[in-house]
Amino acid sequence: MKKLLLILLVTVMVMGTFVGCGKNDATDGAVDSDRGGSVDIGIILPTKEEPRWVQDEARFREALKGTDHRVEILFSQGDSAREKQNVETLIAKGIKVLIITPHDGAAAAAAVKAAKEEGITVISYDRLVTGTDAVDYYITFNSVSVGEAQGQFLVDQLSGGTGENLYLFAGAATDNNAFLFFEGAWNVLQPKIADGTFVVMNSPKAVEFKNKAVLTRDEMGEIIEQITTDWKPEVAKSRAESHITAAPPSGKTFVLAPNDGTARAIFDQFNKEAGIEIFITGQDAEIPSIQYIIDGKQSMTVLKDVRDLVAGAIGTAVDVLEGNKVETNATYNNGVIDVKAKDIQVITVTKDNVKEKIIESGYYDASEFTGL
Ligand code: BGC
Repeated sequence: MKKLLLILLVTVMVMGTFVGCGKNDATDGAVDSDRGGSVDIGIILPTKEEPRWVQDEARFREALKGTDHRVEILFSQGDSAREKQNVETLIAKGIKVLIITPHDGAAAAAAVKAAKEEGITVISYDRLVTGTDAVDYYITFNSVSVGEAQGQFLVDQLSGGTGENLYLFAGAATDNNAFLFFEGAWNVLQPKIADGTFVVMNSPKAVEFKNKAVLTRDEMGEIIEQITTDWKPEVAKSRAESHITAAPPSGKTFVLAPNDGTARAIFDQFNKEAGIEIFITGQDAEIPSIQYIIDGKQSMTVLKDVRDLVAGAIGTAVDVLEGNKVETNATYNNGVIDVKAKDIQVITVTKDNVKEKIIESGYYDASEFTGL
């Protein structure tokens, strides 16, 4: 019996080694190209440390199942030097298309330039590489509309009072998206800050600029510096802690949190305060945040359907490889050129529509959650 079990175990292990070695297996390092083959499409994602990008990898794998093109996915682990190495590795493997989400938009310029010089088509994926003409296409969600959805949600929770506490938080200043999200939120929140409905509790710069409907990039940068989370939950936590100490919340408390990972960290800090009612935003529809929404903790998220983004990126890559015309519907300026873009729409998710938008739409399986 023991022997039988052992044979079974060994068989499963051996099979496990080979499963996923097919020509379209996309992992960080282990594809057939490692055994001497070449790669057509290289994909570089910023970090495995956030569910957002792990999901992108999974959705890429799913979408790539039926293609004949060879693909490899690498992660940069929040490190621009590693990202550059990843680009070099993929260049050496003969890629013709590079799909890249930069860790730091400006720092990635040199890496994509190296790819471009080899005749590789460069697709910025979700985050724009800035300060270079070496980007061919940008596949993105409409990030200004993400910020607007967050701002609108907070405005919709107002019930006629004035002087409502508003705490602002933002993403990493190295990510162009952090500016677009903030710009969108400011579009909606600023009139309500200017007329005294909201009082910004944690950013003197936001208070200083409260009468400006449109902020320059530098002005946004000055605000973001005071409220950045660097996209890290631990930074969000300590910032929330110190902002709460400096300006304690009371009663209805409105919080602009830039994404789900930071929203959960910020919520947990505010939730330690007695007698307050928290309204807090997010984005990405990460599984733990969907649970927070079901549990009445996080108030909303913005669903950015990664399946659409992946389909847009692969569609573009395949069009390039097959010499077809690439369809775009927008342009984004990266400081040097207007990059042709595919701009994808987003959906607001709250406790009221979570079942419909997340479960019934097939985005996640109900078994991932409790209390639905
Ligand atoms: C992405 C967000 C993500 C954030 C942190 C942004 O560029 O658009 O979806 O939450 O980076 O990784």
